[in-house]
Amino acid sequence: DADLAAKGEKVFRKCKSCHQVGEGAKNKVGPILSTIIGAPAAAVEGFKYSKVMKKAGEEGLVWTDEELIAFLAKPKAYMKGTKMSFAGLKKESDQLAVVEYLKSVGE
Ligand code: HEM
Repeated sequence: DADLAAKGEKVFRKCKSCHQVGEGAKNKVGPILSTIIGAPAAAVEGFKYSKVMKKAGEEGLVWTDEELIAFLAKPKAYMKGTKMSFAGLKKESDQLAVVEYLKSVGE
């Protein structure tokens, strides 16, 4: 849905202080998110994850729409010990939109 992805691009402004996507993207405070949808947790080359994020990846966590939405709603509650210092996206509409945007950048 292109409209939802466009809305998600605006929501992604909140993420941009730490994350990059698209051509030339680099790991910053947070890892590159260009191909995050459907990817295992803690798998971006060259990024230094927290212990809990690494463990979650080793145990099989995959960033499906559902898991990503749950994480984004309240990162620190979803994953105790994550080093992602972000309060979360309260609005379900924002969560859905940013997931749609992340899908669109990975295509
Ligand atoms: C990790 C998304 C905002 C810093 C992650 C991961 C995702 C994500 C999907 C897991 C990556 C992986 O497993 O490879 C988002 C989205 C945001 C957002 C969509 C906005 C809605 C932020 C902000 C910061 C940040 C604002 C910095 C203040 C980090 C860090 C990690 C991370 C440091 C690694 C966490 C760890 O190793 O425990 N983010 N993020 N993120 N993010 Fe964010």
